[in-house]
Amino acid sequence: IPVDVFDLVIFGGTGDLARRKILPGLYRRFLAGQMPAESRIIGAARGELSEAEYREQVRAAIAEFVPKARQDTAIEGFLSRLQYVAIDATGTNGWAQLKGLMRENVVRAFYFSVAPGLFGDIAQRLSEHGIADAWSRIVVEKPFGRDLASARALNAVLARHFNETQIYRIDHYLGKETVQNLMAVRFANILFEPLWKAEYIDHVQITVAETVGVNGRGAYYDKSGAMRDMVQNHLMQLLCLIAMEPPYHFDPDAVRDEKLKVIRALKPVPPEDIVRGQYGPGKDEPGYLVHAENPASRTESYIALKVQISNWRWQGVPFYLRTGKRLRARASEIAITFKQPPHAIFDDASGWHENVLVIRLQPNEGMNLMVMIKEPGPGGMRLMQVPLDMSFADAIEDAEDVPDAYERLIMDVIRGNQTLFMRGDEVEAAWAWTDPIIEGWEARGDRPQVYDPGSSGPEDALMLMHRDGRRWREIRE
Ligand code: BG6
Repeated sequence: IPVDVFDLVIFGGTGDLARRKILPGLYRRFLAGQMPAESRIIGAARGELSEAEYREQVRAAIAEFVPKARQDTAIEGFLSRLQYVAIDATGTNGWAQLKGLMRENVVRAFYFSVAPGLFGDIAQRLSEHGIADAWSRIVVEKPFGRDLASARALNAVLARHFNETQIYRIDHYLGKETVQNLMAVRFANILFEPLWKAEYIDHVQITVAETVGVNGRGAYYDKSGAMRDMVQNHLMQLLCLIAMEPPYHFDPDAVRDEKLKVIRALKPVPPEDIVRGQYGPGKDEPGYLVHAENPASRTESYIALKVQISNWRWQGVPFYLRTGKRLRARASEIAITFKQPPHAIFDDASGWHENVLVIRLQPNEGMNLMVMIKEPGPGGMRLMQVPLDMSFADAIEDAEDVPDAYERLIMDVIRGNQTLFMRGDEVEAAWAWTDPIIEGWEARGDRPQVYDPGSSGPEDALMLMHRDGRRWREIRE
């Protein structure tokens, strides 16, 4: 889909996210021919840099974060699109200059890659100085609040200067190829949807396991923890895409309306359905407490929850969610386990296993459907389970050229498509469900259970499923 000419201003243009994700992503889109000739990227940050100095910083970031094969002479063309403004988000410096750079009749987008505490200041100055017009778009990053009250306050600050149709709240999980594939799989095939309900589904597991620790991000992470950092946003979005009703059209509000209904239908989670963990020290590495620089921290680096959705489709179907850092492998997947056939016709039931649909988000994106077949050979009707395997890398040419989440989302901003962005009411509803869970363990003075780095998480998490006669899938790459 062609892209209109744009001016993209990145507040925090010298920051970590801009260097790691936004600018390398834009460079890849530039290489793919998706940046019209007149489009520009304007870095805005506090530092007094010349344009030449900024371009050199961006050159270094691209060299670091774009795999070598992609680096070629085109970089000069990309760098020539860059401008820089030294700006004071809470003062007056730089705003008149920025206004002078804005052009008429091009898409104006403003990426707030800054601490949420500055959203209000920047939004206010953009409108006061007439830098943003009624068609401008703003892009904001997580964390979008740390509870319902702060999320409401942020929404209110932005709403003073921008309409909801201008606000793009990023959850980068929605930009991942396989995450969008969840919708394609569910709603473009007749095969799955008739079975997609309590009558046929036993339970759902959603796993987002990471091998990294909180190294270097301790100050942020220790105030957040896995519930706020991952569950309230990324896992919640995955849950919504699995559980939502078919929207009437693939249209931003139709999709977001359906997701919102799921969030509103989530039941409160009782304490016995929550397991929190914190990684301890390993053989040659310090544990969470050292990384977090807080020896008394009770913040969780792991959480597992049994979640129930109170609606017709999902009555009695548990969704087991887990995510954690310093686990044995980096592996994100959704596994849907189906129920037994109503009647067994084979005498030898010993080989029987449930059908499981595994949707693998990362790495090695793909889908696997575990089905029963007859064990080959003359030994009579013995059953065995085999995967109907569809790895996207094999099935799709150039799977490696699939744009990364940020590239796709930034281009959606320029195109004006909000489908993959969170609406204000959705974020608030997610916090409204999250808040009592966190308040509950704080009031009880719960401590997370320590787990070994490189393990599958705390022991109690196993019990969460064993108790229901189920077990977690193994975490592996
Ligand atoms: C971020 C979290 O939103 O997502 C990080 O703040 C986490 O703690 C990251 O590591 C995971 O993203 P991805 O794309 O690597 O799965």
